[in-house]
Amino acid sequence: MKILVVSRCLFLMLILCLLVLLPFSDEKGCYYALDLGGTNFRVMRVKLQGNRTIDLKTESYKVPPNIKVGKLHELFDYIAEKICHVIETETDSEIVPGKKRELGFTFSFPVQQTRINSGTLINWTKDYNVQDAIGKDMVKELTRALEKRAVDVNVTALLNDTVGALAGGRFYDSNVVAAVVLGTGTNAAYLEQSENILKPYGPPPESGQMVINTEWGNFNSPLLPLTEYDHALDSDSPNRHKQILEKMVSGRYLGEIVRRILERLADDAALFGDIIPPKLRQHYVLATYNVVEMHSDKSTELSVVEKCLEEVFEISDVSLEKKNVVVKICDIVATRSGRLGAAAIMAILKRLRKDTTKNGESVVVAVDGSLFETYKQLNSCLQKTLSEELVDEQVSKMLLLKHFKDASGIGAAVVAASHSIYT
Ligand code: GLC
Repeated sequence: MKILVVSRCLFLMLILCLLVLLPFSDEKGCYYALDLGGTNFRVMRVKLQGNRTIDLKTESYKVPPNIKVGKLHELFDYIAEKICHVIETETDSEIVPGKKRELGFTFSFPVQQTRINSGTLINWTKDYNVQDAIGKDMVKELTRALEKRAVDVNVTALLNDTVGALAGGRFYDSNVVAAVVLGTGTNAAYLEQSENILKPYGPPPESGQMVINTEWGNFNSPLLPLTEYDHALDSDSPNRHKQILEKMVSGRYLGEIVRRILERLADDAALFGDIIPPKLRQHYVLATYNVVEMHSDKSTELSVVEKCLEEVFEISDVSLEKKNVVVKICDIVATRSGRLGAAAIMAILKRLRKDTTKNGESVVVAVDGSLFETYKQLNSCLQKTLSEELVDEQVSKMLLLKHFKDASGIGAAVVAASHSIYT
């Protein structure tokens, strides 16, 4: 695959930009963060203690599948209920009399945003398809649901998870220049000099930096080598012709790509015998964590692969040779994802190169997301591609991909602190 060419062309992609006050790391106080759009939905209470230290309480919830495709008020009622549960666990020291609680809302979908505390949904991505939501202000909807429950919470900041990860990363390390999310979806944000920004919604500030949310998951180009499996996956998806790069790279889709390849091999080459197991035809039945497990199987008889084929597809008695084919497919799909992820990161580094390497300081890219955290083979393929094929020697020496756990949620709380209504 022509990774360098893909990277060059990614460089010209769609951008959404916003002026965000990034944290200075000395913020103090108790803030809330809400993180919606990844594998889990999380509510956090973040006590900022100054000097880059925090005390964090996190509650994770699964958003039920019916809520992801239900009505907008149902989604926000569900979220408000969970926020209330966390608020109920507050201790006296966490309550400041006379002040509203403040919350940073990480909303991991494309949003049209001209102010820090409002933004309208452009379209859903990943497995969300809530009705009547496009064009609505997500902060208003959340505020309305919280008011129904009579809880005193001000939604101070709305931000994409990549913007949260950038803020969270910089809270710990001021050399962070970009943030990447590799999870259920994929995307990146970086800091751009304001004078380089042509902004359709009014003039950008004359100096300083602005945060760019690239929404690179929506990248598409004839240069992307789409296979028949990608075309079929896209055409069966609720957001056809959108998020093409994301559909090749991110955790929502890798399991489904592997399933489609196995289905084809079962049909054309009787991989699993003459009768096709019905479960093999079921879309999204194979999750990406199954792929991670199978790919990491070190046992001589590939017993993890065997167990997974049995549990997910109800396929048994598979020979070692065929189990090896399954592992090989996982490897091919993960390798493609890692290489494309590297190309996308390279596009941002190229954009930043002239600004970032001049001081000889390290260039830190904050990375967050379940795929990066859990898929070791994909993660090392991405890093190897970056250092061996894409990044020139000078940048390579200074480049650091750093995993900041929960960066997007922590970033939401610190951005809420920097935009606090009380300062
Ligand atoms: C999807 C969303 C994007 C988000 C990414 C990672 O690509 O459109 O806003 O940042 O997933 O969660």
